[in-house]
Amino acid sequence: MNSKPTFEKLVDETRHFFVETHGCEPSWMAAAPGRVNMIGEHVDYNSGLVLPMAINRFMIVAAARAVKDEITIVASSQQSETVSIPMSNPMESNKPSWANYVQGVMAGFQELGFDLPALRIGVHSNVPTGAGLSSSAALEVATATALEAILETSLDKKQKALLCQRAEHQFAGVPCGIMDQFISVFGQADNFLLLDCCDYSIKQVPFANEELAVLIIDSKVKHELASSEYALRQKQCKAAANALRVASLREVSPQRLKSKRNRLEPIEYRRAKHVITEIERTTRFVEALAAKDWTGAGELLYESHRSLRDDYEVSCTELDELVVLAQETGVEGGIYGSRLTGGGFGGCTVSLVEQDAIASVVERIASSLGRKWRQLEFFVTRPVQGAREIAMN
Ligand code: GLA
Repeated sequence: MNSKPTFEKLVDETRHFFVETHGCEPSWMAAAPGRVNMIGEHVDYNSGLVLPMAINRFMIVAAARAVKDEITIVASSQQSETVSIPMSNPMESNKPSWANYVQGVMAGFQELGFDLPALRIGVHSNVPTGAGLSSSAALEVATATALEAILETSLDKKQKALLCQRAEHQFAGVPCGIMDQFISVFGQADNFLLLDCCDYSIKQVPFANEELAVLIIDSKVKHELASSEYALRQKQCKAAANALRVASLREVSPQRLKSKRNRLEPIEYRRAKHVITEIERTTRFVEALAAKDWTGAGELLYESHRSLRDDYEVSCTELDELVVLAQETGVEGGIYGSRLTGGGFGGCTVSLVEQDAIASVVERIASSLGRKWRQLEFFVTRPVQGAREIAMN
């Protein structure tokens, strides 16, 4: 099990990295968390309901004014790379690069009419990349939070999340939904975030229970399919909505889907079935939590996984195997439920686990898999606060 990463240590490391790279102390720093989605998967781009939480893993952006006015230099410790961003207005997106997330957010501030100074930027993080824990949204949101500090301004939170999503669409070419940016902005300690992606209304859902914990298992598997299949799922959902003559699948009840089944291709039907039942499951999961019905909540996680595996087809053997192991461990062994989380095709599972059983659950799963997946990583986290500026002293 990973030892508890401390925020202060990460901030110190960022400062060191910045000084080493840029030869001066940073003047501003900001942090934004990664996220895990409890339930409501692949429904944000269908105007559905999602229930993510911000996790105790952060992206930190440190900045100081540049020496030259024309160029912003961005260095990342994770990527071991330094990228130059010419300060044109409007900005042009570069060749594919992690730095496009930073640049896209800078461009968003320019569009709002801000005059950006050229900067030296250092990016450091303990959010694993490519694990489905939203390291890219955390980078966008941390950048936006740093820019707010630099420009001595404060954007409306919703506007900030949407600006970050636009950066990802326009500068990184990733057609993501809105969940990841919202949770990185709106996360609150000890709360899941119930986000209605239809009108962006939010509700904090308390998760302060001492008996329960959220266990994330990173399979360390990343299948190349992820991005092309993500775009394809969006298309299939759109096609299903068009065939059902609605603006989004959010408007369709399970009964209506059944009665209009003949309007859909079989594959569109299965995609729509996942989305529509998943939105319902999200509501039921929140109700189960409120009723302290952990077994019922856990069962909904397993149902969500089956739906993602069979109808939405975004799972993979490794994730399926982790969920089967969770199910074999069962409530008696301390696991209420488990499912893949995030876009799928690799990445992590999320499980609802009894706090006291964590050590035995981890031991059991790790030993069942033996040496097969030596790199498997387990971590437990409570919901943490969203993005914030870090005071400099
Ligand atoms: C990715 C996207 C999110 C969401 C999830 C699936 O993480 O960035 O917007 O669509 O996949 O729920």
